[in-house]
Amino acid sequence: MQIISDLEILGHKAHTELEQISNLEQLESWRVGYLGKKSKLISILRSLSKLEIEERIKVGSQANQLKKALELSLENKRNLLEEATIAYSTEQKAIDVTLPGYPISTGRLHPITQMLKNICEIFQNMGFQVVEGPDVEWDHYNFDALNIPQDHPARDMFDTFWIDSNKAGKDARLLRTHTSPMQIRVMEKEQPPIRVIVPGRTYRYEATDATHESMFYQVEGLAVDKNITMTDLKGTLLEFCQLIFGKDRKVRFRCDYFPFVEPGAEVAIECLACHGSGCRLCGYSGWLEILGAGMVHPEVLRRVNIDPDIYSGFAFGLGVERVPMLLSGIEDIRLFYGNDLRFLKQF
Ligand code: DAH
Repeated sequence: MQIISDLEILGHKAHTELEQISNLEQLESWRVGYLGKKSKLISILRSLSKLEIEERIKVGSQANQLKKALELSLENKRNLLEEATIAYSTEQKAIDVTLPGYPISTGRLHPITQMLKNICEIFQNMGFQVVEGPDVEWDHYNFDALNIPQDHPARDMFDTFWIDSNKAGKDARLLRTHTSPMQIRVMEKEQPPIRVIVPGRTYRYEATDATHESMFYQVEGLAVDKNITMTDLKGTLLEFCQLIFGKDRKVRFRCDYFPFVEPGAEVAIECLACHGSGCRLCGYSGWLEILGAGMVHPEVLRRVNIDPDIYSGFAFGLGVERVPMLLSGIEDIRLFYGNDLRFLKQF
């Protein structure tokens, strides 16, 4: 039968052509050509009524089968082409060299580290050497050698974390409560002239609050030489304060007591917020205390075999966290060690 063999040829041709198709436009013209209103297959189906009953049944079922087969192949091909189009466009994106890259987040130094570097640099420029000491210290260096014997009331200033809680006396170990023990360690090793600063961690057993942490930083300073006087101490600290807090900043020295210096002094700067007129920051005094200092006690020198009749020295101790707190208006010391990047990224 002519029509049947025509249908077979048509089906074969349609499938061969479909395999060659590589985009959706080509697929659409294929659809119009083989399944559209004017296509050969559809016109065969339309004219079925003109055929005789027997032929109509055969041709009808053959033509309908072919129509279904072509429709199914069309659908499969369309899915394949659409998937390929999506894959192609994502691949395009992945290699689009014009897209801006993801910014690489760079690290930075912790604000306290930055401040320590800053402070050290200022003193290095004045001829001081930077040295470091142990965080775990002997009672001897932390207290005794600094003129703070057992039962001395000055020990009350330093709430101490003990390493050897069962052992009292100069062989007991503790977490250093200040950087001052390094004064002794340096003077034991070196003969004058000595000019050192000691940055480092210090520890106190305290209830933490906005102005107290159990771990904090200090920078100790020590200069020992012939003819060192209080003037040298004042000049050095005035220079330091003005470099950190501004060149016209007033600096005040007042008597204070520390067992390892005589005379001892407390150093304050004119308040950064009110410039001396009195406000909440300075407790309405106009001044902010930032350092302890003094002339090295002759007894301390004698203990490390430096003759106080020949040599004299000055020393000072600075709490580091307080400096950026005052400069940047940070109201809680605990922020420095809370590991909150929202805070740390600001510096
Ligand atoms: N070590 C003292 C403290 O932590 C601070 C200090 C005061 C250090 C006077 C000194 C000094 O060197 O001369 O409270």
